[in-house]
Amino acid sequence: MRTNQPQTIYLRDYRVPAYLVDTVDLRFELFEDGARVHSTLAVRRNPESDAGAAPLELDGDSLVLESVALNGQALAEGAFEDRGDKLIVASVPEQFDLTVVTWIEPQNNTRLEGLYKSSGMFCTQCEAEGFRCITFFPDRPDVMSRFRTRIEADRSAYPVLLSNGNDVERGELADGRHFVTWEDPFPKPCYLFALVAGDLVEKRDAYTTGSGREIDLRMYVEPRNAEKCDHAMDSLKRSMRWDEEVYGREYDLDIFMIVAVDDFNMGAMENKGLNIFNSSCVLASQDTATDLAFQRIEAIVAHEYFHNWSGNRVTCRDWFQLSLKEGFTVFRDSQFSSDMGSPTVKRIEDATLLRTAQFAEDGGPMAHPVRPASYMEISNFYTLTIYEKGAEVVRMIHTLLGPELFRKGSDLYFQRHDGQAVTTDDFVKAMEDASGRDLSQFRLWYEQAGTPVLNVSDDFDADQGVYRLTIAQAIPDTPGQTGKKPQHIPFALGLLGSKGESLPLRLAADQGDAPTDRVLELTQAEETFEFHGLAERPVPSLLRQFSAPVRVHYPWTREQLLFLMSHDPDGFNRWDAGQRLAVDVIQSLIGTPKDTAVDSRLVTAYRHLISDSSLDQALVAKMLQLPSEAYLIELSDSADVPAIHDARERVLKHLAIALRNELVACYRRNLESGAYAVTPDQIARRSLSNTALAWLLQINDEEGRELALRQFRSADNMTDRLGALRALVNSDYEDDRAQVLEAFYERFRDDPQVVEQWFSVQAASDRAGQLPQIRALLEHSAFDWKNPNKVRSVIGAFAGQNLAAFHHPDGSGYDFLAEQVCRLDDSNPQIAARLVTPLTRWKKFAPAYSERMKAALERIRDKTGLSRDVYEVVHKSLA
Ligand code: PHE
Ligand code: ZN
Repeated sequence: MRTNQPQTIYLRDYRVPAYLVDTVDLRFELFEDGARVHSTLAVRRNPESDAGAAPLELDGDSLVLESVALNGQALAEGAFEDRGDKLIVASVPEQFDLTVVTWIEPQNNTRLEGLYKSSGMFCTQCEAEGFRCITFFPDRPDVMSRFRTRIEADRSAYPVLLSNGNDVERGELADGRHFVTWEDPFPKPCYLFALVAGDLVEKRDAYTTGSGREIDLRMYVEPRNAEKCDHAMDSLKRSMRWDEEVYGREYDLDIFMIVAVDDFNMGAMENKGLNIFNSSCVLASQDTATDLAFQRIEAIVAHEYFHNWSGNRVTCRDWFQLSLKEGFTVFRDSQFSSDMGSPTVKRIEDATLLRTAQFAEDGGPMAHPVRPASYMEISNFYTLTIYEKGAEVVRMIHTLLGPELFRKGSDLYFQRHDGQAVTTDDFVKAMEDASGRDLSQFRLWYEQAGTPVLNVSDDFDADQGVYRLTIAQAIPDTPGQTGKKPQHIPFALGLLGSKGESLPLRLAADQGDAPTDRVLELTQAEETFEFHGLAERPVPSLLRQFSAPVRVHYPWTREQLLFLMSHDPDGFNRWDAGQRLAVDVIQSLIGTPKDTAVDSRLVTAYRHLISDSSLDQALVAKMLQLPSEAYLIELSDSADVPAIHDARERVLKHLAIALRNELVACYRRNLESGAYAVTPDQIARRSLSNTALAWLLQINDEEGRELALRQFRSADNMTDRLGALRALVNSDYEDDRAQVLEAFYERFRDDPQVVEQWFSVQAASDRAGQLPQIRALLEHSAFDWKNPNKVRSVIGAFAGQNLAAFHHPDGSGYDFLAEQVCRLDDSNPQIAARLVTPLTRWKKFAPAYSERMKAALERIRDKTGLSRDVYEVVHKSLA
């Protein structure tokens, strides 16, 4: 337990490592009551370091040191110092072998960092600083070594023994034990090390690379999951092909392995040649996984695979550079998903996540730049800013350079830095050098935190036929950062004429034909663009495709938004116009009497969307989703959540009553025919029919109820079954709710991934997820405090999605969360720190709420023996 005050680590203190480790030889003896780790490091002084003959310092955490030897000679007591978090050897030669033996207890490891056990198997998680929980080592990504790993374990309990690279030797040992030795030819930082030992079934496939190399593909899962591997395997093959075609990147080892584990803090991990996945991010079948899960799995499999180049072959110099691999890799996986499905829908999903959650992070106490300047606990910096905003930053470079120059830039980056640990600046430099573009101002995207706000105004000079657009940018202050400089922002736009036609965008300097879609480059605090040759005042379509992660303010009228909703050729902005209109309507109803009229134009617009089957149904499915409560909260300054919830619900019910017949017709029209497939067309159909169902049940429609019950019983896939379940759970039909929940549980009780869904449908429901019911879920026999997915599916879903219940005016939701955070802090600090997030946003809420949220944070702060993880989040939130 760490009770002394956590330290802040600064980027400016970075020093190259004093010693390098060329090779690592590991031997793991795995037992039921612990594991012995023998490690031999080939160490030498770093010629680039000015530290000279400094003592050798290795990182450690929760290790029992058994022995230390230098060049094979056991070191005497005084020759080294074991400080717990460091092993220090005061005097070492220029080059030597160091052998360290440690004892660890994977069976008691509930933090899920380092080596631990999950459903009877051994597995590891080393990013960011988990390797130090296995053995003493310079645990930093700029120390890259070649690993050789021998694993010894009981043969019958652990027939499968895996590590990175190729298996080079295997054999029998005494007492029913056996061993396998693995060798990874590529030098790597220790955070990419992995080991798995268990009784797993192996699924095999093969992939032939563009240059004709045959790659062995293997998935390892528990026997009960053997039938849930096909989708991930297919996704992997598509990813491998795509990375060759789009980035010219081939896989480099002979074997690629994926392992599914149930207890995992994150989604998945890109360990070299041996990716480890949270079961919920890799296992799928038609019967148990929703469309959303299928898409998520495809994206995560691709993400981890793409890391083999963007992350493993070229890695991060230090953890401040985390977005170097994560931002770039998220950008790559989003391009991939876009190519595999509907690009507009993918863009809408990415922008929604960014605007709802990343903007909230940028506006909160943990706001940080894409390349942070300091941190206390690196685990807290696996954030939406590093991942999603980081991806947007790379995407802007792609927009500014265009696809060809961007590809030249990525080729140069991979070629120049292969085998190195580098910085985000090296990435930008490669893009500059390959394209000849100056990205010096653009680099501010990496250094300045906060979401830029663009205030746009315009005027039309009818005599001259000139339309002037003035754009002012400002970046709000964030903790520790004020007075920010203007950033370089690609701003895509179009102008529409009164018949919905696209008008030419002719700037004064233009010659020849003017485009109807173009990207302006903003670089000043305020600038004006003049478009010439216009006969009438246009309607502006701004920030098309969400070309930059910024907020745009422009005083569109409701009429203009309705016009853009049906005419904008940019699908993203069509959707965005619908969102802006719905936000405006909902916001105007907050706090008004129950019978206040809802703008009938919204009904007309939605009627058109629901009824016109000639429209792109995938886009319609997105446009029908009202802005979420979380987004409405994000847009407000002093949020009163029950009032927001009420206004949104009133609009939804009003639409549902007015469009009742259209909804029934929409439901019937989209009822599935033919074999289930995860295609954009079928996904849209299922989304539309399930939205129609959900709306009908919000207004207690008897026919809707019957349709839902029938769908629940007869569905041949999880999307429809869960859609019906969710609609009924969120309805007033209490008896039905209880019955379908029970039937669902009985059918799927042995499938943890489905039980997680079952938990979260309830925890996120304003009907089934009031606090007493949430507490009952925590007592349920399927709930498991040691399993992060279960914790997230109840506590996370309650605090993150069931917002009206979480923000109950009596503060009980906050107290509940504080209690659970304190409980989890002792067993799994990483998960505890993530669960705190909703409370950290306390300043966003109306005083009656924010005071109680703050009090809950203070209660967490005062817990004794708080982990560094939770300490950082809570203290920064209260600062
Ligand atoms: N590097 C992983 C990814 O983004 C995420 C991760 C981080 C997993 C830390 C585990 C621990 O793919
Ligand atoms: Zn990643």
